[in-house]
Amino acid sequence: MSKLIVLTDLHMTPEGVSIIGLDPLRRLEAAVAHINRRHPDAERVIVAGDLTHRGDAASYARVRGALARLAVPVSLMIGNHDDRTAFQAAFPEAARDEDGFVQEALTIGGYRLLLLDTVMDRGPAGALCPQRMAWLGRELDAAGDAPVAIVMHHPPHATGFAGMDAIALQNGEAFYAALEGRPNVRQIVAGHVHRTISGSHRGVPFCVFKSPVHQQPMDLDARDTSLSVDEPGAYGILLLGPHGVVVHTDDYELSQEPGTA
Ligand SMILES: [Fe+2]
Repeated sequence: MSKLIVLTDLHMTPEGVSIIGLDPLRRLEAAVAHINRRHPDAERVIVAGDLTHRGDAASYARVRGALARLAVPVSLMIGNHDDRTAFQAAFPEAARDEDGFVQEALTIGGYRLLLLDTVMDRGPAGALCPQRMAWLGRELDAAGDAPVAIVMHHPPHATGFAGMDAIALQNGEAFYAALEGRPNVRQIVAGHVHRTISGSHRGVPFCVFKSPVHQQPMDLDARDTSLSVDEPGAYGILLLGPHGVVVHTDDYELSQEPGTA
């Protein structure tokens, strides 16, 4: 099986700026050290958007410095808290599609991994514009019968959090229409919500991972999406196998060396 690590919602801040008292740089540095120690065999780390909290150059520089210590190759995506121009200035080597969107198709463990750019020009919600939908269609066609996993910052459907559902992908209907008749799409992976969530939607399994930093309170009716809670930082671990995908999460902030039970 091929192993992938998914880090999402790093929300980096400039020096001296915390988020509900938490230090995003310290949380990210701990995640990088943990991944290097536990998962040096991973094929790739995917960072699924919201690299920064406010999209400023100083925060991108801190992300770049911390991720440079990763012992595993990394692919970067953007989220609604990112600034496309500032991101591309900080990471000029990051993948882009032919239209300039931060999208990438990778082959790992026999899977086609499609990393989508769901960021709109304005606002916290996500969408796939006609150009990006066309890219998705082309990549799905090119994948043929190979198993496909799709990673996208915004979940393409409701997850039950009233506030977050209002700012999910706005054209989920069109997205799922593109997946019709493609049973080789085995897994959708998202961020944005800052919680561990899994299930299936229209027959396609999905998972959402917590942030290394602040988390969404476990209150489904909350409408204020800025409400955040300090719970241990986490990242996802995907095992891609010939018969499907196994999804793990590790609350690495709590992780200790094992004892005998
Ligand atoms: Fe986020």
